[in-house]
Amino acid sequence: MISFTLARVIHVLAVILWIGGVAMVTTVIIPAVKKLKSPEEQIKTFETLEGRFAIQAKVTTLLTGLSGFYMLYAIDGWSRYLEIKFWWIHAMTLVCILFTLVLYVLEPLVLHKMFKKYVQKNPEKTFFFIQKAHWVLLLLSLITTAGVVAGSHGWFWIK
Ligand code: HEM
Repeated sequence: MISFTLARVIHVLAVILWIGGVAMVTTVIIPAVKKLKSPEEQIKTFETLEGRFAIQAKVTTLLTGLSGFYMLYAIDGWSRYLEIKFWWIHAMTLVCILFTLVLYVLEPLVLHKMFKKYVQKNPEKTFFFIQKAHWVLLLLSLITTAGVVAGSHGWFWIK
């Protein structure tokens, strides 16, 4: 069995690559794409960059989830789901489920087609919506990270 600490190392490295990438897409790539002249250029550039990151994000999301559940198993921490003071365990699980749904199910089956359809009709509105959605996911992930780092070292924000 791998050690709890090795699982935490894998967990934190996966989170850095994943959420760091989300921050790059949200604060650098989408604003830059929105400034490109033609909708064709915007679509091609966004799909190329987002497409490459999606592969990475699938791997790092999976690693985060597996190492996270392994840590819960290793410390027999399942009862934490019953205590509000461990809200960051719920938050981590929610963020992981949300991204997994988007990356593995919604994006390939629904969102990609919707993007293609709406970006032709109204590229500005489509990228406005995509950016807002990324900001929500990024802020949720950053608040979760702050909460778990504080909580797992004894600083409980909710008693
Ligand atoms: C199914 C998903 C997840 C599960 C089950 C999970 C579970 C855990 C557990 C049990 C710990 C150790 C807590 C402790 O020592 O008391 C941990 C640490 C951590 N988790 Fe998660 N996690 C998940 C997803 C995430 C996500 C999505 C993020 C960030 C957005 C995240 C960020 C972190 C960080 C930064 C730590 C290290 C805290 C530290 O060592 O200071 N985890 N996670």
